[in-house]
Amino acid sequence: MITIALSKGRIFEETTPLLAAAGIAALEDPESSRKLILPTNRADVRLIIVRASDVPTYVQYGAADLGIAGKDVLYEHGGEGLYQPLDLQIARCKMMVAVREDFDYFGSIRQGARLKVVTKYVKFAREHFADKGMHVDLIKLYGSMELGPLVGLADAIVDLVSTGNTLRANHLKAVEEIADISSRLIVNQASLKLNRSALQPIIEAFSSVVAARNSANN
Ligand code: ATP
Ligand code: PRP
Repeated sequence: MITIALSKGRIFEETTPLLAAAGIAALEDPESSRKLILPTNRADVRLIIVRASDVPTYVQYGAADLGIAGKDVLYEHGGEGLYQPLDLQIARCKMMVAVREDFDYFGSIRQGARLKVVTKYVKFAREHFADKGMHVDLIKLYGSMELGPLVGLADAIVDLVSTGNTLRANHLKAVEEIADISSRLIVNQASLKLNRSALQPIIEAFSSVVAARNSANN
């Protein structure tokens, strides 16, 4: 049995065409089903539905053979025990620093102010500010980071930005870009050794979709 770990929402949606290229289709929709193990049209493949940030853990420990996870999640996890053969170029966004529209971020930095920063992405944030030689106080949150500067919890946020709609709706502005983010295929290293003949065709099918999209975009 091949087990693939996915999260609901954008990752599941953007993975459906990749799975289709490998001849795999979920038999139930995770948005409407309460099941956490979803059968597919292939008796030898099942999907497990987990939190986005838990996908690397399931694959690391071999509870799933394959998974799809954002670079944000993989960086925070550390990537131990994971083979990352393919950037799927789905769920694309940017890791950014943002502040209130009326906050003078660069002026504060020049004055040597010690900023309070809220984020779910502590490792990204710590390394970004360390590289800039800035001392900041990091406060870990699990979501809705945009609220932090609005209610005095923080001066800045480190969060993902795609359309910029969430920043605009909350009167925030992006001030620094930290990294381009997209999602990767991740593979349990032991599974790949033991079950290469079953996993390789799936990896190759995903890879051809990515290659076809790249050539269509060039
Ligand atoms: P968790 O449920 O574990 O807290 P999450 O809420 O970040 O995680 P999703 O919102 O499903 O999970 O996001 C899955 C992945 O999609 C993220 O890890 C990131 O790589 C990417 N992503 C997040 N926000 C956006 C966005 N606005 N646009 C495009 N991709 C995004
Ligand atoms: C992500 C991110 C931002 C938003 C940015 O949240 O944390 O809040 O997307 O996207 P935008 O620039 O297109 O507005 P998400 O939609 O995943 O919500 P959640 O993390 O709270 O589930």
